[in-house]
Amino acid sequence: MGFSPLSLSQSLSFFLFLFHFHSTISSSHFCAPDQSLSLLQFKESFSINSSASDRCQHPKTESWKEGTDCCSWDGVTCDMKTGHVTGLDLPCSMLYGTLHSNSTLFSLHHLQKLDLSDNNFNFSHISSRFGQFSNLTLLNLNYSVFAGQVPSEISHLSKLVSLDLSQNDDLSLEPISFDKLVRNLTKLRELNLASVNMSLVAPNSLTNLSSSFSSLSLGGCGLQGKFPGNIFLLPNLQSLDLSYNEGLTGSFPSSNLSNVLSQLGLSNTRISVYLENDLISNLKLLEYMSLRNSNIIRSDLPLLGNLTQLINLDLSNNNFSGQIPSLLDNLTHLTFLDLSSNNFSGQIPSSLGNLTHLTFLDLSSNNLNGQIPSSLGKHVQLRYLYLSSNKFMGQVPDLGRLVNLSYLDLSNNQLVSPIHSQLNTLSNLGSLRLYGNLFNGTIPSFLFALPSLYYLDLHNNNFIGNISELQDDSLEYLDLSNNHLRGPIPSSIFKQENLTTLILASNSNLTGEISSSICKLRFLRVLDLSTNSLSGSMPQCLGNFSSMLSVLHLGMNNLQGTIPSTFSKDNSLEYLNLNGNEIEGKISSSIINCTMLQVLDLGNNKIEDTFPYFLETLPKLQILVLKSNKLQGFGKGPAAYNSFSKLRILDISDNNFSGPLPTGYFNSLEAMMASDQIMIYMGTTNYTGYVYSIEMTWKGVEIEFTKIRSTIRVLDLSNNNFTGEIPKMIGKLKALQQLNLSHNSLTGQIQSSLGNLTNLESLDLSSNLLTGRIPTQLGGLTFLAILNLSHNQLEGRIPSGEQFNTFTATSFEGNLGLCGFQVLKECYGDEAPSLPPSSFDEGDDSTLFGGGFGWKAVTMGYGCGFVFGVATGYIVFRTRKPSWFFRMVEDIWNLKSKKTKKNVGRCGAGRN
Ligand SMILES: *[C@@H]1O[C@H](CO)[C@@H](O)[C@H](O)[C@H]1NC(C)=O
Ligand SMILES: *[C@@H]1O[C@H](CO)[C@@H](O)[C@H](O)[C@H]1NC(C)=O
Ligand SMILES: *[C@@H]1O[C@H](CO)[C@@H](O)[C@H](O)[C@H]1NC(C)=O
Ligand SMILES: *[C@@H]1O[C@H](CO)[C@@H](O)[C@H](O)[C@H]1NC(C)=O
Ligand SMILES: *[C@@H]1O[C@H](CO)[C@@H](O)[C@H](O)[C@H]1NC(C)=O
Ligand SMILES: *[C@@H]1O[C@H](CO)[C@@H](O)[C@H](O)[C@H]1NC(C)=O
Ligand SMILES: *[C@@H]1O[C@H](CO)[C@@H](O)[C@H](O)[C@H]1NC(C)=O
Ligand SMILES: *[C@@H]1O[C@H](CO)[C@@H](O)[C@H](O)[C@H]1NC(C)=O
Repeated sequence: MGFSPLSLSQSLSFFLFLFHFHSTISSSHFCAPDQSLSLLQFKESFSINSSASDRCQHPKTESWKEGTDCCSWDGVTCDMKTGHVTGLDLPCSMLYGTLHSNSTLFSLHHLQKLDLSDNNFNFSHISSRFGQFSNLTLLNLNYSVFAGQVPSEISHLSKLVSLDLSQNDDLSLEPISFDKLVRNLTKLRELNLASVNMSLVAPNSLTNLSSSFSSLSLGGCGLQGKFPGNIFLLPNLQSLDLSYNEGLTGSFPSSNLSNVLSQLGLSNTRISVYLENDLISNLKLLEYMSLRNSNIIRSDLPLLGNLTQLINLDLSNNNFSGQIPSLLDNLTHLTFLDLSSNNFSGQIPSSLGNLTHLTFLDLSSNNLNGQIPSSLGKHVQLRYLYLSSNKFMGQVPDLGRLVNLSYLDLSNNQLVSPIHSQLNTLSNLGSLRLYGNLFNGTIPSFLFALPSLYYLDLHNNNFIGNISELQDDSLEYLDLSNNHLRGPIPSSIFKQENLTTLILASNSNLTGEISSSICKLRFLRVLDLSTNSLSGSMPQCLGNFSSMLSVLHLGMNNLQGTIPSTFSKDNSLEYLNLNGNEIEGKISSSIINCTMLQVLDLGNNKIEDTFPYFLETLPKLQILVLKSNKLQGFGKGPAAYNSFSKLRILDISDNNFSGPLPTGYFNSLEAMMASDQIMIYMGTTNYTGYVYSIEMTWKGVEIEFTKIRSTIRVLDLSNNNFTGEIPKMIGKLKALQQLNLSHNSLTGQIQSSLGNLTNLESLDLSSNLLTGRIPTQLGGLTFLAILNLSHNQLEGRIPSGEQFNTFTATSFEGNLGLCGFQVLKECYGDEAPSLPPSSFDEGDDSTLFGGGFGWKAVTMGYGCGFVFGVATGYIVFRTRKPSWFFRMVEDIWNLKSKKTKKNVGRCGAGRN
């Protein structure tokens, strides 16, 4: 078991005594033994986590060796008179583990500077014992995975000059602690609490900050309410960051500002700003200005040309319009310029070429047009160039000199071939997005030879010909979909061992078999080869080759064979689409292992089986399409409680199912009983951002939905041999938008409870054996656009009413007993629009009239997390510079060094 702390301490003391004795002869400066021991025990209580981060490569504690002078250890400073450790400087030292309150760190009473930033303390709470470092002037715990409440004892550190607790996971600060902190830490000059949850703190409590304050960073703290105006006027303020406090209001003053202000961040706040003469003339020293999505009341953009010291300028996500002011060209120090998501129009001013220090340029999502100026090719420092979603035309200029370029996004423009082969010199290019343009001809092979490329997206162009072999094996993302590529899938694709996304869909003419070599791609998350001409049988290994696979879309090919029976437990599959192939055999019962499955589409195949009851327990299944196969039977009811309770779409049409309608299931289809409040497009729940598509009969027409609204509800049991009556409980499925029971052998009357389905847009009961009258309640279905009751044995007057008056004779034809103007037949005799005894509001079916909400209550909104926005969203970046200065320019595929679950991703900030 090694040493107990005591014996270690004893032997160490003895050793140090000897060492002391020996070394006093040559030198009198060395570490006090107890301090040395505390440091060694501190070191021992953590492991060195080499995988924590690619950035941190130097574990300083490795130089800490028993028997050597601790004052000479890396990161340790001592008071040379007393031998007390007064400084511990361990940023980015790869420490991993819990920092307990019994840690020997707290024996280092004499500490004046303590920097533990950028390590991983694994959600430790910040111990109240930090409050005992009575002489501490600097405390930095930035980005070190601390969690919980900041202890109020921090306010005991009355000598603190600099405090940084920013970028930790789920750290929060109570109003009372913050109040104490502001009142007691009178020497504080720098305070960084970015991303600490301060949502209960009233901004007013900042009023008492001392006038000597120089740096205040409260980005992403959840602050709400009016920010005290006097803080803006602190005379020594150099840096102020209030970004990403969406509820923060107030007004940024235009005069009496600190004349040393160099950094200002008001992004994503509602603090009003007047970018006008007065303000500009007061910001002469400004180096960093971040006004993304800000409350800019008035602005005179050309005046920005006077801020000649600017290094970073972010004006993205505002409503700026007109030409990009050419006075920006005077800002020759600029390295970061973000004008994206505005309404800038016209051409890129060629004088932008004067900004030769730019490393980051984002002009995406504007209305810019014309050619991309060749002067951009002069920005040899550029690492990030985003020009997507504009109206740029013509060819891509020669960018061959941009040897530092890592990210190039020219997507969604009107650019044409040829693509200059000079691009082949971009040896640092990691991410290339050219999708959504007019590129044609074959894909230039040099694109496949770029040595650093890991992300290549060329979808939605007019590329033709075979896909040539890839020259490298570093690809992680490849999307060549929606082109006109042909021939086989090149075998070199299967050698990209780190490939996570492979999308070759909708080229129509990709041919050959899917080689089982594809199963070497063990990290694949998205495999979409749909809408091509692939043939042969599906490799069985597709069921279990990657535990991360979340999308498997092989629909619309000519694949044969059976569904893989190899789906293993703990797989991540969310979307499985094999629609439109020639798959035979049974529905593999191993699909039951796909507990994450949201979409299962096996439609349009040759599957011979009974209804796959076992699917009813898949807890997340939302879409089940089995249409147009050879399925039969259906006797059994639901076996499980909550069977199919999440289903939004159930399409089992065009099979040989028989027997009564599956009434038992109607009772548990809970998702069809309530509409969604929020509309999002359905997609994977992980970072792949894959948006689901599905082919479906919608209002009588076969349509491919390239996006599926989460609000959709469809029940299609048509073209089977179902018999018996329509159960009245069908009226419970209130959220249904489309109900199709046509082409069966249903008998009895049309349930008046159908009048409850107030969201119905399409109702098809045609070609059955239904009798009796059409219930007048159907007249209340105000969204109904398609009604087909034809070819039954209905009789009596067709109800009138606004909606019914819009349907023509075809909705009713083939019912000889019906009368009314729609069928040009006058009603005689019992022409009163009477009803059969109403059957839907009696008995125990009271829920039919329950509260709930209809379509009208549905609010539209886009959720966060499904779209590609996530991948290119914004984070509050980890750095000792104020956080907002940096966009998340590394996209998510490059965030391998992420050490915790959260990098404070920002919602709704992405581009598509
Ligand atoms: C410190 O406290 C933790 C948690 O309470 C405990 O697991 C650990 O053994 C303690 N260490 C020492 C040296 O007492
Ligand atoms: C704190 O600093 C004061 C003044 O320099 C000094 O007298 C005192 O001993 C220090 N306290 C500790 C615990 O180091
Ligand atoms: C303020 O700091 C002093 C030490 O200077 C400490 O004794 C006192 O408890 C602190 N007060 C608060 C409210 O934290
Ligand atoms: C901008 O600079 C010009 C030229 O240096 C100067 O004449 C003008 O007064 C400045 N405007 C502001 C608002 O500072
Ligand atoms: C911009 O630069 C030009 C040429 O260097 C100069 O004449 C002009 O005064 C500058 N404008 C401002 C506002 O500084
Ligand atoms: C800026 O660019 C324009 C147009 O390219 C050029 O005429 C001008 O001389 C440049 N100014 C400076 C200061 O480089
Ligand atoms: C490619 O596009 C260019 C520009 O639109 C056009 O001139 C050329 O004919 C096209 N080439 C082919 C092979 O379609
Ligand atoms: C795949 O990823 C691993 C881990 O990041 C890396 O070490 C390896 O070099 C990568 N392989 C290729 C071919 O890039």
